[in-house]
Amino acid sequence: MLEVKGLGKDYGGFTAVKTLDFNLEPGEIFGFIGSNGAGKTTTIKMIASLLEPTRGTAVLDGFDVRTQSIEVRRRLGYMPDFFGLYEDIKVWEYLDFFASLYSVSARERPGVIDTVLELTDLSVKKDSFVSELSRGMQQRLCLAKCLVHDPQLLLLDEPASGLDPRARSELKGLIAELGAMGKTVIVSSHILPELADFCTSVGIIEQGELKAMGPVAEISQAIVEEHVIEIRLLESVDELAEFLKEKPHIKGLEKTGPKTLQIEFEGGEAQQAELLKYLIDTGYPVIEFIERTANLEDVFLKVTTGAVQ
Ligand SMILES: Nc1ncnc2c1ncn2[C@@H]1O[C@H](COP(=O)(O)OP(=O)(O)OP(=O)(O)O)[C@@H](O)[C@H]1O
Ligand SMILES: [Mg+2]
Repeated sequence: MLEVKGLGKDYGGFTAVKTLDFNLEPGEIFGFIGSNGAGKTTTIKMIASLLEPTRGTAVLDGFDVRTQSIEVRRRLGYMPDFFGLYEDIKVWEYLDFFASLYSVSARERPGVIDTVLELTDLSVKKDSFVSELSRGMQQRLCLAKCLVHDPQLLLLDEPASGLDPRARSELKGLIAELGAMGKTVIVSSHILPELADFCTSVGIIEQGELKAMGPVAEISQAIVEEHVIEIRLLESVDELAEFLKEKPHIKGLEKTGPKTLQIEFEGGEAQQAELLKYLIDTGYPVIEFIERTANLEDVFLKVTTGAVQ
């Protein structure tokens, strides 16, 4: 569906995006993660055919962004990180305007507008002025605008920024719904753990380079080779901490509470089972023994060095 081939951008002598290669399928929700200045917006704009690549290209449904931008734009919706809305018009007029720009016929437009308003949960605001909408509603209206021409690819540049937790969770639901409809979605963010639960794959970009890419679970596994285990006892963990210090496979330990201990464990599952048996046999009153799986935040911190361009 989308093929990104050796895509890169230099600004003068400065390389903002090196060379990116990846493919996305219909229904795929790709989380594009990176810190400030990593190259997310630059990449998204090149795919949107709004910024000319210095090298490589992206091909959407067989159409090349460099040479067939009109065809490409017909097939994608782009929600920029900063957007302005026309304030003195009504919500439906705003959508009607953009639908007509995308050559949606006058006969079809009312139906299309109702559909995108329903999808973005804005139906009740149809006759309100754009200026009367809250920030979160404006964000959703911007997304609704991206949907009027029924695009196959959605490029959402930090759509969750500035939203409250509830609005964010609603946005996640909406993005997941778009994926279920078979659309391909690229969503950028630095709010990492948030992407994990609804993205089908993630890519971590740093200084214009993809450091890791793949399904969330796969990436976490490939990158985090040591495990963090949390142990909770019925009694103080002071003695246990002393006891474990010298044991094999234990790289580090930290008291996270009077009765809880977190250990960095280098062994595999068999060694974990052994350790638990050992603790119980030795007489420690173990209430919990849990492996804390690495979340996207851990993965991100591990992959990136935090360098800012
Ligand atoms: N028009 C431009 N001219 C020169 N340099 C630019 C231009 N636009 C972006 N850059 C540089 O390219 C790099 C990547 O910027 P980009 O906006 O793609 O990052 P980003 O990942 O979207 O960051 P953020 O999370 O802050 O939005 C940055 O170092 C930035 O300063
Ligand atoms: Mg950006």
